[in-house]
Amino acid sequence: MAFDLEQFAQTSVPVKYEDLDFDTFESQPLDAQTLRSLRYMCDVEYHTSCFLRDLLVTPSHREEDAGGFMTMWNREEFWHGEALSMVLARHGIIVDYDEVKAKREKLGWMGALGPLKQSVLTNLAGTDFVAVHMVWGAANELSAVAAYRRLSAMTDHPALSPLLKRIAQQETRHVAFYTTQGRERLEASQTAQKIVRMVMSRVWKPVGSGMMDESEVRHVMGHLFGGHGDEMDKLDKRIQKLPGLDGLTIFRSAFARLGVPA
Ligand SMILES: [Fe+2]
Ligand SMILES: [Fe+2]
Repeated sequence: MAFDLEQFAQTSVPVKYEDLDFDTFESQPLDAQTLRSLRYMCDVEYHTSCFLRDLLVTPSHREEDAGGFMTMWNREEFWHGEALSMVLARHGIIVDYDEVKAKREKLGWMGALGPLKQSVLTNLAGTDFVAVHMVWGAANELSAVAAYRRLSAMTDHPALSPLLKRIAQQETRHVAFYTTQGRERLEASQTAQKIVRMVMSRVWKPVGSGMMDESEVRHVMGHLFGGHGDEMDKLDKRIQKLPGLDGLTIFRSAFARLGVPA
């Protein structure tokens, strides 16, 4: 699916949840495993919006489309965090955006791109940085769609499942943006292909790594994808379709490194 910024701008709205009956969480509360995963997802969503300011100083924002996308993308992610925090609050778990923001500032903005900073980022410039950023974003957004759909199916809850499906629907447009942008940069440069291959196969880690404890990353990825090698393969196939990235198995490899069974 190609990405249409104008259409995205016209139709971007905070995810709707007011019509869902959150009182059902009283009669059908979520189990501890699910709440732990939701807490993680909520933090990750909030973190996204905390570093917009910093993303805007990278070469990516000067690219046509990217600056405009990022503003609305961050707003959508912020509202995903808000919606999930409402679900958690119904279970006595309070997530405070300002606290998450304070933590983010301590970590530095690169938490979002994980260990990329220490490895190659400082040596990248211009187009190559943008290519890495876009493919990295595509992998994160693809896994977000899969995670929300999995949790929606696993819980089959009258309020949670429709909410997660709505969030996943918005994430698919984020996937479209990042893959469209990534594809263009990869098509244009074999150097970009080489760098992206290297970074994605050696450095990429599931979203949330670097900002959450590894035990939490392992829990969430195991809870959602453990024993589901088929889901991992589906994700890998999407990245393999990008120019020059055939044969990459970033999801399988990253999950295996975490100790999540396929
Ligand atoms: Fe999100
Ligand atoms: Fe997203």
